[in-house]
Amino acid sequence: MKKIEAIIRPEKLHLLRDKLDKKGFSGMTVSEVKGRGRQKGIALQWRAGDYRVEFLQKMKLEMVVEDKDAEAVIELICEYAQTGEAGDGKIFVCPVEEVVRVRTRERGCGAV
Ligand SMILES: Nc1ncnc2c1ncn2[C@@H]1O[C@H](COP(=O)(O)OP(=O)(O)OP(=O)(O)O)[C@@H](O)[C@H]1O
Ligand SMILES: [Mg+2]
Repeated sequence: MKKIEAIIRPEKLHLLRDKLDKKGFSGMTVSEVKGRGRQKGIALQWRAGDYRVEFLQKMKLEMVVEDKDAEAVIELICEYAQTGEAGDGKIFVCPVEEVVRVRTRERGCGAV
C-alpha cells in the first residue's frame, strides 16, 4: 500500500474529489494547510510598499491506496489540480506498512 500526500490549490479540491470518487477512490483525509515552495510564498505590491506573504493557503489531501492504484491516483491529481502556473502543488508518496479498519479489525488491502 502507498500513502499519497498531495498539496494542492484549495479551489481544485472539489472537482478532484469528484473525479476520484467516480474512479472508485472514496477514502481520503483533507486538511487546510499553509506552505511555500521554491518562490518562498508570494511577493505583492501595495500602495504602502512591497511586502511578501510567506506562506500560502493550500489543501493537503492524504489517501492510502493499494500499490496497483497509486499511479492512477497520481495521474488524476496531476490532471485535475494543474493550472500550469507556479504553485500547483506537489505529491509525496510513501510506503504504508499496515492499515486496520477499526470496526471490523480487517487488516491490509481489505481495510483500505
Ligand atoms: N519540498 C517541500 N516539502 C514540503 N512541502 C512542500 C515542498 N515543496 C512544496 N511544498 C508544499 O507544496 C505547496 C506548493 O508548492 P509549489 O507548487 O509552489 O512547489 P514549487 O517547488 O515551488 O513548484 P512551482 O515552481 O511549480 O511553484 C507549498 O505551498 C508547500 O505547502
Ligand atoms: Mg512554487
